[in-house]
Amino acid sequence: MGNYSITIEKTTCPKAKPADENKLGFGKIFTDHMFEVDYCTEKGWYNPRVLPFHNLELSPASMVFHYGQEMFEGLKAYKTADGRVLLFRPDCNIERANNSNRRLMIPQIPEDLFLEALKTIVKVDEDWIPTAEGTSLYIRPFVIATDPFLGVRPGDTYKFIIILSPSGAYYPEGLNPVKIWIEDEYVRAVKGGIGEAKTGGNYVASLAAQVKAHEAGYSQVLWLDGVERKYIEEVGAMNIFFKINGTVVTPMLNGSILPGVTRRSCIELCKDFGLPVEERKISVEELTEAARTGALEECWGSGTAAVISPVGHLRYEDEVFRIGDGGIGEVSQKLYDTVTGIQLGKLEDTKGWTVEVK
Ligand code: COI
Repeated sequence: MGNYSITIEKTTCPKAKPADENKLGFGKIFTDHMFEVDYCTEKGWYNPRVLPFHNLELSPASMVFHYGQEMFEGLKAYKTADGRVLLFRPDCNIERANNSNRRLMIPQIPEDLFLEALKTIVKVDEDWIPTAEGTSLYIRPFVIATDPFLGVRPGDTYKFIIILSPSGAYYPEGLNPVKIWIEDEYVRAVKGGIGEAKTGGNYVASLAAQVKAHEAGYSQVLWLDGVERKYIEEVGAMNIFFKINGTVVTPMLNGSILPGVTRRSCIELCKDFGLPVEERKISVEELTEAARTGALEECWGSGTAAVISPVGHLRYEDEVFRIGDGGIGEVSQKLYDTVTGIQLGKLEDTKGWTVEVK
């Protein structure tokens, strides 16, 4: 396909494809194959290969298990009505992966190897791309440090792996509005930490608050900054947007917020829609005051897995705010239709965001 000779070993026992694409859930089913490439300091990345999906054999002393040196990404492949296979902005994921790698002391992955690996594995398993409404093939690239060693230092050996999961909506609510809990006890990340890297550590940090929020009937947690606990950051599984008095406002990237690919796309699209967009600090006081006075017209989250997720209710301390009529806002719906329209090839891709897998 390209410059790297990626070897392909096809499975001799293909699995049955999901019987009902409307019941896929998210991240539960895996395809027949996976991509794997190894790294060591002497050779760099070597032996890129597609293999049947398999369990890994790793030393229990592998560094990833102990100190969490790990990076992951998430993107999606779609099948268009005329049978083409499209990736959505893979260049953005590749760029972000290498930014995360830099922060996590993981070696850079050559961009052309990364893209070729994505295209090759998706092509091999293209029959697994679901086509039911709201479904796609979720792609999970990740890197782990594999050295068997218990000292704290960057690894010398790594595996870069890509697995694929035919998936439906990330939230069981689908496009129906979710209820969000603004967290005032725990924090997710601090500036100077690893908040802007895509790595497991940020997600394990979110679990205690997520369980607390779930028990109270909320889908997700909205994080405040880790120092003053005053400024809105992100939801963890997605970035957050507000429409306040006609202006779209989203927290500016500050080192502790994940630079989302869908976030970036929403900003560009809102500007195209003619809406004023501000990337800036937004305090929880400003937000709750806007909610109290009705100036907060809409709220939605954006993410690869979540796509566009309208937010119907926000809870902060002892107050619960209903946003608009608690339903799907106009901008959220338009963004969802535009993003998924481009992803599925239903709308013309005037921005060159999609990459065809041939
Ligand atoms: C994604 O949106 O791709 C993510 O990695 C978020 C994860 C919580 C599923």
